[in-house]
Amino acid sequence: MTSKPITTSEIRARKARGEKLVMCTAYDATFASILDTAGTDILLVGDSLGMVVQGHETTIPVTLDHMIYHTRAVTRGTKRAHVVGDMPFMSYKVSAEQALESAMRLMQEGRAHSVKLEGGQELAPTITRIIEAGIPVMGHIGLTPQSVHAMGGFKVQGRSSEDAQRILNDALALQDAGCFAIVLEGIPLDLAKEITSQLEIPTIGIGAGVHCDGQVLVCYDMLGMNEGFKPKFLKEYANLHEVIVGAVQNYADEVRAGTFPDESHSFKSKKLRLVEGEESKLYSTTA
Ligand code: KIV
Repeated sequence: MTSKPITTSEIRARKARGEKLVMCTAYDATFASILDTAGTDILLVGDSLGMVVQGHETTIPVTLDHMIYHTRAVTRGTKRAHVVGDMPFMSYKVSAEQALESAMRLMQEGRAHSVKLEGGQELAPTITRIIEAGIPVMGHIGLTPQSVHAMGGFKVQGRSSEDAQRILNDALALQDAGCFAIVLEGIPLDLAKEITSQLEIPTIGIGAGVHCDGQVLVCYDMLGMNEGFKPKFLKEYANLHEVIVGAVQNYADEVRAGTFPDESHSFKSKKLRLVEGEESKLYSTTA
């Protein structure tokens, strides 16, 4: 594993070399540093933070200011991984100029290395505009959570042949527009396989099967922190919910029993002495 910072050219080269890309979401500096140390290639500051950090039902309430705040925290904690800042709901669909302005803020204030946006061929001119300004863009097609109400829920996309063809056309249009990689979310694995084989740029799947050039998971989900969330595509690599609940219960037991902090976790000073008879000067430093 290289210790060099991961660039968009390295991300593209991985596909040519047949090496899989590892991407995870991150929302703060501590997690970013842990995921970076573990060798994650790409950290996505996803607008999924609206659900896993802010506790909303969808990603729609997330604003550009929220994304900038979290992206800045993630870049502070990252040394090697490529950091992608997600463009939130309605920060890029009003006009190409609005999109460029939002992308610029994510790069300049958030210090992202690239931006990601959800949508297909209709966004091609917008993507080209952002890329021409020197900002790399990652696409995101298939199940696009910002369109949850238009899709009628978080549903797998591309099951009918017309829908599958539309998604394939979207992928080709995003590649032509200049995207350096595309997230494929919530589509059947044979469609993801077909798209991956037709594209020169890498595909990164979530709920899109094993044939993609890389995979992405929400860090809280893959670490088992989100108890009630067990979709078919998710694999939990740890049960941090159980670990954290156990640790906090131990802490609570020791605080209530008066066994924490013990001597080894307390400070001492040799310079303090009791001044007899003078309560207000109980602790006075020795001369
Ligand atoms: O916001 C997010 O976390 C995402 C990933 C699920 C791809 O877009």
